Amino acid sequence: MKKTVLFSFLVLITMNLKAQTQQEIDIQNKITKLIAELTIEEKVALCSGRDDWSTMPIERLDIPWIWVSDGPHGLRRAPATNKPGYGDQLPATCFPTASALAATWDVDLVYKVGQTLGDEAQAQGVSVLLGPGVNIKRSVLGGRNFEYFSEDPILSGEMGAAYINGVQSQGVGTSLKHFTANNVETMRMFNNSNVDTRTLHELYLTPFEITVKKAQPWTVMACYNRVQGEYGTQSEFLLTDILKKDWGFKGIVVSDWFAIVDRVAAMKAGMHLEMPKVSPVNNAIAVEAIKNGELDIAVVDALVKEILTVVFKAKSLQKEGVELNVEKDHAFARKVASEAATLLKNENDVLPISKEKYKKVAIIGEFAAAPRYQGNGSSQVKPTKLDSALEIIKNEYGKGIKITYAQGYNLEDDNDTSLISEAKKVASEADVVLVFSGLPLQYESEGIDRTHIHMPPSHNKLIEEISAVQKNTVVVLTNGSAVTMPWLNKVSGVLETWLGGQAGAGGIADVLFGKVNPSGKLAETFPTRLEDTPAFFNFPGEQGDVLYGERIFVGYRYYDGRKIEPLFPFGYGLSYTSFEYSDLKVSSKNTTDKEGLTVSVTIKNTGKVTGKEIVQLYVSDTKSTLQRPEKELKKFVKIELAPGESKEVSFKLDSRDFSYFDAKRNMWIAESGEYVIAAAASSRDIKLSETINLQSTQQVPLMFDEYTFFLEYWNNKQTREILLEYMPNWIRGIVTEGDEAEIREYQGFMVEHPMIKYPYITHGEITHEQVKELVEKCKGLTYTP
Ligand code: BGC
Repeated sequence: MKKTVLFSFLVLITMNLKAQTQQEIDIQNKITKLIAELTIEEKVALCSGRDDWSTMPIERLDIPWIWVSDGPHGLRRAPATNKPGYGDQLPATCFPTASALAATWDVDLVYKVGQTLGDEAQAQGVSVLLGPGVNIKRSVLGGRNFEYFSEDPILSGEMGAAYINGVQSQGVGTSLKHFTANNVETMRMFNNSNVDTRTLHELYLTPFEITVKKAQPWTVMACYNRVQGEYGTQSEFLLTDILKKDWGFKGIVVSDWFAIVDRVAAMKAGMHLEMPKVSPVNNAIAVEAIKNGELDIAVVDALVKEILTVVFKAKSLQKEGVELNVEKDHAFARKVASEAATLLKNENDVLPISKEKYKKVAIIGEFAAAPRYQGNGSSQVKPTKLDSALEIIKNEYGKGIKITYAQGYNLEDDNDTSLISEAKKVASEADVVLVFSGLPLQYESEGIDRTHIHMPPSHNKLIEEISAVQKNTVVVLTNGSAVTMPWLNKVSGVLETWLGGQAGAGGIADVLFGKVNPSGKLAETFPTRLEDTPAFFNFPGEQGDVLYGERIFVGYRYYDGRKIEPLFPFGYGLSYTSFEYSDLKVSSKNTTDKEGLTVSVTIKNTGKVTGKEIVQLYVSDTKSTLQRPEKELKKFVKIELAPGESKEVSFKLDSRDFSYFDAKRNMWIAESGEYVIAAAASSRDIKLSETINLQSTQQVPLMFDEYTFFLEYWNNKQTREILLEYMPNWIRGIVTEGDEAEIREYQGFMVEHPMIKYPYITHGEITHEQVKELVEKCKGLTYTP
């Protein structure tokens, strides 16, 4: 019986696969026919939007249009495709923003957020949700940091992939943005991200690469800024070489809104869809370029084919009759907010609050009544409902506890401290005080970078003054990115709640009152002061150029290297329980890049309540040819454990996890040598580590040329032989007799020159032709790194 069921199941799956494939084939055939029928003008028109939020239909050929809509932490669907949709957008569930999602470190949860967003998009007829953004938080000042996940490329990429897989599982596409090196808002339409190639690959491409490979977003949104001197919207290197050829991206590239400067260059580079509707001028330029042969029609046909593939796919997956489930989605958003809450300080177990511990709880701060729950700009969602912490705490947790409230500060005026004395009185009469504070909406915005990382003076002063009269002061922070905490030593508790979305208040209350054990950890370093940050001297750039002078040393990579103690390190977060790490095992102490490594570690909940731990795996290369960060996050997992329970978690590391990007050779290289594998509770809390030896099997090009130094030729066995053929006897005598140290000591001057100088040094005994010959003979040689 069982066998029959399994067999029928397999047949069904196969039939379904066949049906899908047939459907895809049918769509492709239809598109081929359409391309033959479309005029040049129509083809070009298809490569730009119809209006703000829809693609271009061609009615005479029954080509439909589809809705696209912001994104990312909820839908911002305008009432009509030709309306901007700021303020008059349709209500939708506002989820916690990306900073908060990343603080959960929970890929399954983020997948479910994606699923829910996909569902809501279906309910509103939206086919492509414009998000998520996986750009790196290079500077704490970045205006859109609340909309991005992390300072770390692996965490950002994994979050992006989970989100996209979730949305797309519902038959709705996504737009992975903003491709790439979009890390500054100042002059965002022109600023050039002047980033070196190695850093570009290791930090600013990797999150996109992970997301594209793991989730195949239907669309990728090209950035406003320039990257290495070329606009992201017209970079063939980024849009075609990297995205399509290297990573196998199958979808289409969409421009950020009004990002295109040169339409023809953009189309040649691989830009499919210019958004939103452009002036007819841009289309006319492209038509003209096709007619005069500057733009090959075959290029345009390929773009149109891929655009139509997405349009028809979207149409075929559109579901009728999907209803927005306001209550269910709101409840889920609350859960997500509670998972994101990150407990930064909890002296003497001031939290959680219970009626056994405290009879009187004072809630202070206007944010408790008028929550800040999302960021400013194109991502602004009109929520279906909005909870306030004051109401939730009173209604759900107020039984048997006296709750008092004071406004504490004035959201209209950052410097107004007149409300503090009343708040102090309320605070002094309570057993514990919760100060809701953080960054008002205008402090963090798309289009504007921050100039400092302080909270409003009135918030800081309020906390100082309250902590002077109340030892049980807990600061509940609401902000999308890092802030300074000058009062940290004076308060007992700090709960970072990010921008928690419309149901954030409930999530916060659940954590404060112990219904949910906090399990968020920082996805970005909190510095003590702005001057300590990696991009301090290079943000937001000058004269249209942003020098990425800190290179690969962004976030914890920088603080580690400079031995700077941050306020709170990357990966940090407390729990109401405790965890013990034991039994770190590696599959082998000696491995190769091909075999990789399996690492396992056991985690035990040693406290009294159920809790979740985020286990982080860092890899360090102890000695390398190029400078490398002290350690880099490669894997992570979040697990739940009951009191006394243990679980073993394991991770598989592959060659890439050991590699750096060699810009000269344009390849990832895993060098032979020792690596430290560390299981950690945060980037500054390494619990266990193992050292392993990796033998590389890679053969990489040697790439010696006329500028390679004599000593390098000498030190390599293969090139030494060739070198000797060209050396005059007197040099040969000197160098063959000594080892490297002696050669350096006695002949340092002679050997520390690039080969191109030898015709001069030897007064012509070695000729220019011979140097060329030598270089030629060494071409094609490889070595094992
Ligand atoms: C933003 C994008 C957004 C688009 C549409 C742009 O200004 O950079 O993130 O999706 O507008 O609103």
